[in-house]
Amino acid sequence: MRSVEPIRWTPEGVVLLDQRRLPGDVIHHTYTDYRELAQAIKDMVIRGAPAIGVAAAMGVALGVERSKAKTLAELRAEFATICDMLARTRPTAVDLFWAIDRFKKRFEALALAEANNGDAGLARIRISLVEEAQKLHQERRDADERIGRFGAELLPKTGRVMTQCNAGALATGGIGTALGVIRMAVEGGYRIEVLVPETRPYLQGSRLTAWELHQDHIPLTLITDNMVGHFLKTGGVSAVVVGADRIARNGDTANKIGTYGIAVLARENKVPFYVAAPISTLDLSIASGDQIPIEERSEEEVTHLAGVRIAPDVHAAHPAFDVTPARFIAAIITERGIARAPFEESLKDFAERP
Ligand code: MRU
Repeated sequence: MRSVEPIRWTPEGVVLLDQRRLPGDVIHHTYTDYRELAQAIKDMVIRGAPAIGVAAAMGVALGVERSKAKTLAELRAEFATICDMLARTRPTAVDLFWAIDRFKKRFEALALAEANNGDAGLARIRISLVEEAQKLHQERRDADERIGRFGAELLPKTGRVMTQCNAGALATGGIGTALGVIRMAVEGGYRIEVLVPETRPYLQGSRLTAWELHQDHIPLTLITDNMVGHFLKTGGVSAVVVGADRIARNGDTANKIGTYGIAVLARENKVPFYVAAPISTLDLSIASGDQIPIEERSEEEVTHLAGVRIAPDVHAAHPAFDVTPARFIAAIITERGIARAPFEESLKDFAERP
């Protein structure tokens, strides 16, 4: 199944589809410097938890590949600087830290193996990290397909499904998590229409999800965020499926601002609320959602729309994510299966599986 590609490793550098410009313009940029790639993550040229993880992996690989270090000690010092810079881009999506940790372990294993091999050893470390980034990207694609297959089982054969933000190909580098579930269902012959809240203030719903679904000819209806309750009550919605940026040990889930409200309204209206996310989005080091850092973005993204001021010059708040308590979540769909409450047990079990 082919979907739009938000990120690609090429011999010229890392190519990103500029998501800030969608749906109007489809523009790609090639990054040859990890510092610029880190800035692109911060600026949301690429966004969505799994895709941020892929971008961080490629950022580390790019930095090491292009490093001028002549000794292992120099390369190790530069590697640490690269990892630090990438880790300071966005705080909530745990896939970013997961990817960086994985590269730290890989680097140390390679450094140990190549410690006495001089220039040839350094060259092999560089090549291996580039391969690791491509491998990680492929794993994201495979995970999405499996999440899609598991999740499709939970959807109605005919009906309406609501999502939030963009948990599609643009957000993962595969077919998407929440949208991967919908894509797999549609491919399996389900007749599904997607209700897409616009997702103020950054409009990932209207700009990105609506664009992706429209490209793939999947029927959708765009709604504003304040229509969610109305449609969950009267709109014949059979399920809600969203992605995740970080899932705590007890199943509490951070996702795009507005998700919590949707989950509560779904419960009130007896609509099952599902989270679709890869194992890399689990943060089993934290007990509950209270410990998830919530990114605060600029006030201007609230007071302005497409560069036009839509509010007086007043203070505005912009938490980019909220946390949905686990009790509102009917199931968490992972690439290893469908986790149900008590999540403390089911998530641990999935995380420990090979
Ligand atoms: O701020 P963003 O656009 O990076 O936030 C993205 C979301 O909240 C998505 O819903 C989440 O990352 C899941 S993506 C598969």
